[in-house]
Amino acid sequence: MEELQGLPLVEVEEGSVRFYVPEVEALRRRKGPSTARLPVFYNPAMELNRDLAVVFLRAVGGAHRVKRVCEPMAGCGVRGVRFAVETEVEWVAVNDLNPKAAALTKLNVEKAGVEGKVSVFSLDAEELLCRFSAPGKRFDFVDLDPYGSPAPYLDSCFRAVRRGGFLALTATDTATLCGVNPKACLRKYGAKPLKTEYCHELAVRILVGAAVRLAARRDIALKPLFTYSTDHYVRVYLQMFKGARKADEALSMLGLLYHCLRCLSRHTLQGLKPYHPAVKCGECGLSMEAAGPLWLGSLWHRETVEAMEAELSKVKLRRLKEARSLLAKVRLEMEVDVPGYYTVDRLAEVFHSPPASPVRLVKALRKEGFKASLTHFTPQGVRTDAPVKILRRILAGLS
Ligand SMILES: C[S@@+](CC[C@H](N)C(=O)[O-])C[C@H]1O[C@@H](n2cnc3c(N)ncnc32)[C@H](O)[C@@H]1O
Ligand SMILES: [Zn+2]
Repeated sequence: MEELQGLPLVEVEEGSVRFYVPEVEALRRRKGPSTARLPVFYNPAMELNRDLAVVFLRAVGGAHRVKRVCEPMAGCGVRGVRFAVETEVEWVAVNDLNPKAAALTKLNVEKAGVEGKVSVFSLDAEELLCRFSAPGKRFDFVDLDPYGSPAPYLDSCFRAVRRGGFLALTATDTATLCGVNPKACLRKYGAKPLKTEYCHELAVRILVGAAVRLAARRDIALKPLFTYSTDHYVRVYLQMFKGARKADEALSMLGLLYHCLRCLSRHTLQGLKPYHPAVKCGECGLSMEAAGPLWLGSLWHRETVEAMEAELSKVKLRRLKEARSLLAKVRLEMEVDVPGYYTVDRLAEVFHSPPASPVRLVKALRKEGFKASLTHFTPQGVRTDAPVKILRRILAGLS
């Protein structure tokens, strides 16, 4: 068995690369497992996250300069090595504070034969990003994939990405963003979360909103190009632009989303407010619950999503079916793009009707002239611009 400094290794394959990761079974026999406690981090469940990062880089690389990229928290280095092998980038800075992770990354870089394209560092992520924060030294793309929340590192990322460049953020603190711990959400993201059936979408919007607000302090505007969420993480791809006016425009897309716990009606208040004004539900009169400040603008950029879909047929992905299905769903929901989807089970619960099939509900809404789609956030979800009273009437007709 291959070993690195006494660490048993096993060879695995992702995309077009074969690389070494800690041998979990051997470690389990020695110590007892938990992925977070592996001597060097590797999570096979994040393969789709890495697949889509490769696809995104290839997609934006078609129209933009994406030559210098950075992965400041890299674990075993698989993501950075995949960038070097599977995309057109010229140089990847791969970093991890854990020296064993950096040593394993070096081994994986050699194994893939990309020594000329990848530099390995073992620094604190912020120190690395700071080293590349001067104009001319910045990266075209930074992919931040920390344990838990990316919030503490956002400012360092803004410094190290060139204006016009791209930033990808993974947040695995979904419980915080989805409202299980509102105090933590306020602390990390400066926003009030809300436990609703569409809390995963609110999580994406809160993360984007927090990033937009923080970037505005540097006169930087952020634009979401592609975002999604799965059960255990939220992922956003943002483009950065320089300029006070652009930052003001981005800030103007922040606001509050109100939710009526009684009838499921939603209401948005655009604009950044220092407090949450009381709002009564326009449908039933109940005081509504607020979430935010959060991003109320579009979560997707059509050209980017279409370019990503086009790239899928050109890359070797083991989870191609999942990637294809995710992007296809996003492409449809992008056309509706109204904050806050509904779920058929929650509608049934509130309206005391049998749950409708989401596909039938979408068809019925479209027949009446409303925009409607399924959503990638959940198979139970329907996104529509129809008000809740219309949903109620249509659902009564479907049952
Ligand atoms: C979620 S893992 C990264 C996984 C990797 N990006 C991938 O796709 O497989 C987070 C990594 O961040 C590293 N880390 C934690 N704190 C750090 C810091 N302050 N600076 C640099 N790396 C850090 C950990 O050692 C761990 O390997
Ligand atoms: Zn109501």
